[in-house]
Amino acid sequence: MLEAINLSKTFLRGSRQVEAVKEANFKIEAGEFFVIEGISGSGKTTLLYLLGGLDRPTSGSVSVDGVDITHMGENKLSALRFSKIGFVFQSFNLIQTLNARENIEAAMVPARVKAPERRERAMQLLRVVGMEDRWHHLPGRLSGGEQQRVAIARALANNPSIILADEPTGDLDTKTGVSIIETLKELTMGQGQTVVIVTHAPYVADYATKRAVMADGVLSFQESLETVRT
Ligand SMILES: Nc1ncnc2c1ncn2[C@@H]1O[C@H](COP(=O)(O)OP(=O)(O)OP(=O)(O)O)[C@@H](O)[C@H]1O
Ligand SMILES: [Mg+2]
Repeated sequence: MLEAINLSKTFLRGSRQVEAVKEANFKIEAGEFFVIEGISGSGKTTLLYLLGGLDRPTSGSVSVDGVDITHMGENKLSALRFSKIGFVFQSFNLIQTLNARENIEAAMVPARVKAPERRERAMQLLRVVGMEDRWHHLPGRLSGGEQQRVAIARALANNPSIILADEPTGDLDTKTGVSIIETLKELTMGQGQTVVIVTHAPYVADYATKRAVMADGVLSFQESLETVRT
């Protein structure tokens, strides 16, 4: 469960204040697939960083599984990120000197998973995202879509209750982007994992259980597809 209450973030740029996120309010239950659309600069990444405890709000609060993380100390927050939150970044952010399997294993080190177990789990996740036979490849030898599959596997490594994905289909072509989103949906559906995706790509919203549009820092909710269909 993920909750934002009057969540706001203001940046100071020179003498000007930029209100990147303005008074966001929502509650997302376990198992939801929440898709936020918005043009460049509308505040999507800022919101995701606040939700994942990578940045602190100017005002308002964020709760993860009922725990308010707003004023949590750095060490505790860092531990919470490792145990509860999986990030998928637009630019994949894989470590270029580690192969696919090692990139996934690396995510489990801070969670103190033992080496043989890390290896086994990494291979299992690679199998799930259809990259089992490429485990020994460095990111530079993988296509964008393949790197994103590895990044998704890495985000799932510690079995997080919340997955935050920033433009996971980035610059991928539509066919590859659709398969990435379908993979993400299949992997999390029925696991009770909450997914939040921010995106420019219009086809992503087809998979949403909850939708919103972000414009100038303001979130506007749209009827979920389920509501529309019934
Ligand atoms: N650290 C920062 N300092 C100053 N301004 C910032 C900072 N981070 C973001 N901003 C500003 O906040 C606004 C929202 O930025 P954000 O990166 O959240 O947008 P976005 O919707 O993710 O855009 P994109 O689709 O291009 O990734 C922008 O005007 C941006 O310039
Ligand atoms: Mg962004």
